[in-house]
Amino acid sequence: MTRLYTLGNPPTTPAAPISSAPDWVQANPARIERALAHALALPGGGWYVADASARITAVPRAITIAGRPLVFWRTPSGRLRAAPEACPHMGASLECARTRGDNLLCPWHGLELGDGPHGRWSPYQVHDDGVLAWVQTDSAGEPATDAPILAPRPGCYVAGVIRVEARCEPADVLANRLDPWHGAHFHPHSFARLQVLEDRGDCLTVRVAYRVLGPLAVEVDATFHCPDPRTIVMTIIDGEGRGSVVETHATPIEPGRCAVIEATLAASDRCGFAVARRLAGLWRGAITRRAARLWVEDVAYAERRYALRGRRPAALRTIPGG
Ligand code: FES
Ligand SMILES: [Fe+2]
Repeated sequence: MTRLYTLGNPPTTPAAPISSAPDWVQANPARIERALAHALALPGGGWYVADASARITAVPRAITIAGRPLVFWRTPSGRLRAAPEACPHMGASLECARTRGDNLLCPWHGLELGDGPHGRWSPYQVHDDGVLAWVQTDSAGEPATDAPILAPRPGCYVAGVIRVEARCEPADVLANRLDPWHGAHFHPHSFARLQVLEDRGDCLTVRVAYRVLGPLAVEVDATFHCPDPRTIVMTIIDGEGRGSVVETHATPIEPGRCAVIEATLAASDRCGFAVARRLAGLWRGAITRRAARLWVEDVAYAERRYALRGRRPAALRTIPGG
């Protein structure tokens, strides 16, 4: 085995893994399915992540969510808006609309659409948390909440958001993250070693060594938990970057297709962090490149899981499609 050299602040407690069994033994499919069933039963409030907040601009943009084509745009005062993407008159695409003040002007016959409903066309509730743009629909039949159910975030951070699409359901994306045991095997370029320290059923704590360069790594303790049925959050609780969060949101596009929108909120209690934040552009590039690289493999994992689920007899498919 190649020697590993760790950098930065290490976790403050010695590692006490819950098992010394090989990872393939610890990665118990029944345990992963139970954790997934628990996550899928959580309330979601009808909220879905559309994309990074910064990627919704004054130019109308079409994004399909849970089978519904929607149009998103930002008003001159910076307010996020979302509505059905088809004009209620004769169905013109509102992605091609011009804006007039806060409203959309249909490109075909000039109908102006704004805050209020027009026939069956009606804007959706939206939420901009400063990192992500959310929309609320009734597609999942969930009791509505006033705002998305967010996991705690650090007070001061540098954020990077990626969006990738996968041929699977949100449940497959969550199942991938609920299996941390694949980390060092499937992503050897990023993870040098990973041990599970605690398993509370709905929350896993791991000690993981992230590769920085070759044998140089940063070791941290992190938890994984699901705050809603379409999100899994990794939080660094000890070691370098304590308080940093990675939110992985899986938004259904249509049956068998979903978007993975992952927000990394990198934090640090080092005193130079405030200065380092001024170089947020450089950080953001590094964060998103690393996340995108991991999701090349994790999309393959989730798509494989979805394909295998489709091949199983219906009676054996214990987990709904998400
Ligand atoms: S299709 Fe939009 S105004 Fe006619
Ligand atoms: Fe992974």
